[in-house]
Amino acid sequence: MARIIGGIAASHTPTIGFAYDRNKRDDPVWSPIFHNFAPLAAWLAEKRPDVLVMIYNDHVSSFFFDHYSAFALGVGPEWPVADEGAGARDLPPVRGHPQLASYIGHSLMADEFDMSFFQHRALDHGCFSPLSVLCPHDPEWPVSIVPLQMGVLQFPIPTARRFYKLGQALRRAIESYPDDLKVAIVATGGLSHQVHGERAGFNNPGWDERFLDLFERDPEQLAAMTTAEYAELGGLEGAEVVMWLTMRGALSANVTCMHRSYYLPSMTGIATAIYEGTDEPNPAIVERQRRHVASELAGVERLEGTYPFTLERSVKAFRINDYLHRMVEPNHREAFLCDPESSFEMAGLSEQERDLIRRRDWRGMMHYGVIFFMLEKLGAVTGVSNLHIYAAMRGETLETFQRTRNAPGALYSVAGKDATHLGWDTLPGHSVREQDVGAGRD
Ligand code: FE2
Repeated sequence: MARIIGGIAASHTPTIGFAYDRNKRDDPVWSPIFHNFAPLAAWLAEKRPDVLVMIYNDHVSSFFFDHYSAFALGVGPEWPVADEGAGARDLPPVRGHPQLASYIGHSLMADEFDMSFFQHRALDHGCFSPLSVLCPHDPEWPVSIVPLQMGVLQFPIPTARRFYKLGQALRRAIESYPDDLKVAIVATGGLSHQVHGERAGFNNPGWDERFLDLFERDPEQLAAMTTAEYAELGGLEGAEVVMWLTMRGALSANVTCMHRSYYLPSMTGIATAIYEGTDEPNPAIVERQRRHVASELAGVERLEGTYPFTLERSVKAFRINDYLHRMVEPNHREAFLCDPESSFEMAGLSEQERDLIRRRDWRGMMHYGVIFFMLEKLGAVTGVSNLHIYAAMRGETLETFQRTRNAPGALYSVAGKDATHLGWDTLPGHSVREQDVGAGRD
C-alpha cells in the first residue's frame, strides 16, 4: 500500500525561482534561500519518495475567475511550467501520477469533499518555485507529482478547518491506495506577506515564528482561526498559509520537526520545514476506506451498455474529447469540415482516434472513452440527429430505435444557427448523409 513518509513545508515566492534561474547561490542576499532549502533537498534525496503531493495555489496563471474552485486535484499525466507573463521558466515538465491521483479523487469524493479535477494545465510558481530547488531536474525530474491546487484568491474560500480536514481525508486516501508507493506531502505558500493595497509590504516575523510553533504542536488552534484573523496577523495574501494545514492534517497528531528555517529577504517570509512521524496505518481502517471508495459505483458494471465517465476515462480519452469539445469554436468546426485530415493532424490525434471520427463510429467512440455530449456536438456539426446517434450506439437502425419511443417521429440535435445540412429535419424519410450516420448499426 502507499505510505506517507513525511511532510515538507516551503514558501513559494517567485524570488526562489528568480534566484535559482539567475544562479544567485553566492549572492549574500539570496544565499540564505539556498541554504534553507538544502536540508529539504537532502531529505528528498535520502528518502526518495515516488510521488510528491504538491499543495499550492495558482496565481491566476492557469486558473481564472470564469470558473474558480476551492480544491482542484491534478489527475493528468504531465505538468509543464506556466508562462506568467514573459515566457515560462526553462524547466522540463514533471510527470504526473494519474492512477494515484484518480484514486485520491475517488476517495476524497467518497469522504464528501466535492473536488474539482484538472489536467493539461501548466503549473505556476506556486508549485515550481520551491520544486526547482527541492529536486535536481536535468534532464528529468526524479519524482512524479500530484498537484493539489487551492483556490485561495477569490473569497469566499474554505475555512482553515476545512483545509485541515481535507488533509485527514488525503491521508485516508493515500494509505488505502493498494500499490506500494512512498508519498511525501509538500505544502507551499506564505508566510506573512501582503502584496496589494496600501498595506502592501506588511510582514510579521513574530507571528510567523508563532505559526510555525502552533503548526507543529497545536494545529487545532490554527484550524479554528478565520481568514480575517490570518490576514490581520500575517497579511491577506499570507492567509494562503492555511494550505499548510492540509499537509499537517495528513500527518499524525505528534510529529517530529526535522528542520525549520525562516528568512525574510523582501516581501514574504520564506520558511522551510520537514516533519516526520506518521503512525502505522490501521489495517481495519484501510480496508474500510477501500470499501467506502468503491461503494458509490459498486454494481454499475452490471448495467449493460453503461460507461460512467470516470477520471480514468477522462484522462485516457482527453485528446479526442478535447478535439470534439472544440466543435463549439466556429474556426475549429470549419477546419474539421473543410479538411478533416489536416485538422486531425494539427490536433495530434492517434490513428485510432482519427478512424473513429472518420467512420462516425458512435459506439466505438463511446467504448473508447468519448463522453456522449461530445458525440452530440459532432452530430450537430455533421448534420446527424441525436436519435441517429442513440440508434447507432445501440446497434440498431434509426427506424428500429424510433419504434421504441413514444413519439417515433421526434428527431432533434443541439445544432444551432450555423447548422447546415440537417437533412433529417427537412427531407421526407428523415434522410441523412450515409457517411455521417457511421458505423455501429445492424
Ligand atoms: Fe501564493
